[in-house]
Amino acid sequence: MRQKKSRGEKITMLTCYDYPTAIWEDEAGVDIIFVGDSVGTNVLGYSSEKEVTMADMAHHLRAVRRGVSTAYLLVDMPYGTTDSPEDALANAQSLLADGADGVKIEGPKKSVVTHLNRSGIEVCSHLGLTPQIDNIPGLRAKTASSALEFSKEVFEMEEAGASFILFESIPEEVAKCLTHFLVVPTIGIGAGRFTDGQVLVVLDLLGSSTFDYRHNQKYEEFRARAMKALANYVEDVETGRFPAEKNLRHLPEPDLNVFIAGMNRMQRTESTHVS
Ligand code: KIV
Repeated sequence: MRQKKSRGEKITMLTCYDYPTAIWEDEAGVDIIFVGDSVGTNVLGYSSEKEVTMADMAHHLRAVRRGVSTAYLLVDMPYGTTDSPEDALANAQSLLADGADGVKIEGPKKSVVTHLNRSGIEVCSHLGLTPQIDNIPGLRAKTASSALEFSKEVFEMEEAGASFILFESIPEEVAKCLTHFLVVPTIGIGAGRFTDGQVLVVLDLLGSSTFDYRHNQKYEEFRARAMKALANYVEDVETGRFPAEKNLRHLPEPDLNVFIAGMNRMQRTESTHVS
């Protein structure tokens, strides 16, 4: 990632929650495949990221790991798992044992990032809008004073040893300036054009839900296409169009005759007679 930053090449990152999507993303050349805690609201039907557990993350991480052969595999540390440096280390080690290459931590957790870095664990520090801490939608660092305050936190995370920094929902100008001053790569979501890389939630990109976000670019209308396919299936089964001849497997004629004769010998009532 650092080489990409120094060469001015953009880094691509996408969320991923399952094995088949991991294969697609890896084949498509995504640099960082990321098992986000957004798995909770996007896949598990939870009402908040705060409900996501270590067991949830481990389950999805292991599935994604099986599908990733080239990309860097990053995983979110879920809510409540980084409250102390010691807890964070134990939890991060467990996620690494499940196949992650690095962990993402929300908020400016200096002592935690320092501890993990000293233990040889690569950390992505997530700052700006951090749903685990404050999920009120909207722009962060949007005045000069809050942008300066925010920048201090960002520099502290780099000094603490963060390997890269993710900005969520901050003005483009702030992200651009910080990207210029930081040695480590920056990844943005809703942070404008000038971060070293971009991340999106894969289901938003594919258009799998009805709503859309300003920061998102829908590259597909997945939901509309899936709904059409599902409705076609229901109609085809109900009208007898599915299964069609091409979907069938037949018993060869001689076996069929023997089978029917045998069945008729086994018949229990007149009404079960077949021909
Ligand atoms: O979990 C997630 O999807 C995230 C994104 C904002 C990158 O943290």
